[in-house]
Parts: sequence; C-alpha cells; structure tokens
Amino acid sequence: MTDAEKPLYRSVSIGSLELEGNLFLAPVAGYSDRAFRSVCIEFGANFTCTELISSEALIRDSKKSEYLLLRAENERAYAIQLFGSDPEVMYQAALRLAPYHPEAVDINCGCPVPKVVKTGAGSALMKDLPRFGRIVAAVTRASREALGNVPVTVKIRSGWDEHSINYREAAAVAVENGADLVALHARTRAQGYSGSANWDHIADLASRLKVPVVGSGDLFSPEDAQRMLKETGCAAVMFARGAMGNPFIFAETRSLLETGTYEPVPAPQRIQTGFTQLKRLAADIGEHLACREMRKQFCAYTKGISGGAALRNELVHAETILQYQNILADYL
Ligand SMILES: Cc1cc2nc3c(=O)[nH]c(=O)nc-3n(C[C@H](O)[C@H](O)[C@H](O)COP(=O)(O)O)c2cc1C
Repeated sequence: MTDAEKPLYRSVSIGSLELEGNLFLAPVAGYSDRAFRSVCIEFGANFTCTELISSEALIRDSKKSEYLLLRAENERAYAIQLFGSDPEVMYQAALRLAPYHPEAVDINCGCPVPKVVKTGAGSALMKDLPRFGRIVAAVTRASREALGNVPVTVKIRSGWDEHSINYREAAAVAVENGADLVALHARTRAQGYSGSANWDHIADLASRLKVPVVGSGDLFSPEDAQRMLKETGCAAVMFARGAMGNPFIFAETRSLLETGTYEPVPAPQRIQTGFTQLKRLAADIGEHLACREMRKQFCAYTKGISGGAALRNELVHAETILQYQNILADYL
C-alpha cells in the first residue's frame, strides 16, 4: 500500500513501540500535566508527552515538580521530555527516568524561551547540531543501559530564523545518533508561536526520513489535522494549543478521519470534563494551586458556550472547586 492509499487514522511504529493511532498530544508547559493528559487519553489521544523537564534540575534531585514526571493512571504510552545542553547531564538525567518506566524519552530542541535558550538548550540546539547529536547519542545510550532501550524521540523547529532553516540537517543528525521519531514544529525560533507554521517543511521531511515524522503547528480543529495528514504525508499529528480545554479534539478528529464527520461535544459534557481534570489536578498539587492553574483551562472549556464571556470574567477569579461549581452550576 502506498502512503497515499493508507487510511489517515493509522497505527504508528516508533522503534519497538507500536501505537494504535496517530493522534498525539504535544508537550505544552503549564498545561500537559498528567491530569490533562488523562482526559486527553479518555478522548482518544494515542500518545502523550510530559512538558519539558530540566535535566539539570533532575540530576540535582529536585523533588519540587516530581509529579510532572508521573504517569497518569490510564496512560499506556507516554514520553518524558527532557531539555538541556550538556550531553553528560542529559545522560545522567535520562538514567534517572528508570523508576517512571516511560515508553519513550523525548529531547526538546524547540523551546524558544530566553531562560532556556541562553543555557544553550531548547531551540538553541538548532544552532549547534554537533552538540545536539551528542545529546541524542547520550540519551540513546542511557535508554539502552537503564530504560529497556525505549525509543528516543526529538522535537525540533524549522530552524533558528528564516535565514537558517535547517530542519533537514537537524533531523538527519538526530536519526544518525539514534532517534526513532522526529516531531517538527514547523516554525522558526524567531517566530515563537506567532505567524503560521510552514507545513511544506513537514511534507519535505516526511518524504525524506525513514523514521516517523510527526507534524506540529496550527492544528486547531479536526479539519486542520485531516488536512495536515493529507497534505504532508506525516505519520502522526500533534495537537498543542488546539487541545487546551478541548481534549475532545482527539475523538472528533478520529471520527472525521474514519467516517468523514463528527459530532461536537455538548456544553455540559465539556464542563464536566473540566471538573474531572480539576479534581485530578487537585489530587496532585492541592485544591488551591489546582484552582489557580485551571482558570486558563476553564476559560478554554467555556469557549463557544453561550454567555461564555460573562462566565470567563468570573472563572478567572475562582479559588475553590465550590466556586467553580457555583459559577458553572447551569451546566452541571
Ligand atoms: C504555552 C506553550 C507551552 C509549550 N511547551 C512546550 C514544551 O514544554 N515542549 C515542547 O516541545 N513544546 C512546547 N510547546 C510547543 C507545542 O508543543 C507545539 O509544538 C506548538 O504550540 C505548535 O503547535 P500549535 O500551533 O498547534 O499550538 C509549547 C507551546 C505553548 C503554546
């Protein structure tokens, strides 16, 4: 079967890891904790990833954000994403992932945040591919030695800026050094999260690499995902901002890909799902912090609901689960 004849919703093999489907949840700092990942899985996410975790913090034994590393109860396949600039530190950090038994380790080569970039990590690695290669090799070695040889994956950008588009070279370096999958956020570091992603880069990479290429950038609806799979031939798509407060996008996309249509999830179920997420997060980090963290998410859950703007004015002040329940009583 040629790629063009394959169904758009299809299985993906990442090294020795077999996934039933190709709808992935992207790592998103401040959002993709295990409470959120667990609801995405309930709605059909086939592969999930933690947000970026500092390799330096991990080897200093920082317990502060340990819950970020933990698997959700219903999570069957997840990756832990590490960032760092020192291959030895990345190796040591990857060794320390053994107690968490992730199905893959992902290396961040895309974060544009100055705090990360100025240490030579994240998207700064797009400017230092020899270092990037040593990091991928080091993490691959750690996986072989301590993690049961789980796949190593990388998440790159198109390049540093429009004058240095080098995703081809970065992907080649990653694969040469042991990466089993390349996710491409098809924006440059200079773009941050603005402007549009250049899906031609995803198509180009997918046509060149033997390992699966995952497309990221501007997936805000099931139709976007369908179009990316069709137009680029990528193996899988990765929802990021499109999934925030909208874990339903996984089920809707699968339905669109398999049947040509989907039923939008009704408002009460959307809100209920927000509460499921809130309660799980509260169990991890306490009610107070969880309520604050979930404000932005609940704003997203109420998008498209009639009277949503007025609700959001109140939601941004909610401090307790009870307050959320009072504000959203009409939907419960
Ligand atoms: C708030 C925010 C946090 C993010 N955190 C991470 C991260 O921790 N690791 C990572 O590889 N990418 C991260 N990303 C990038 C996303 O995974 C994704 O590649 C990007 O948002 C493009 O997809 P989109 O246009 O569909 O949102 C983040 C994006 C946003 C908006």
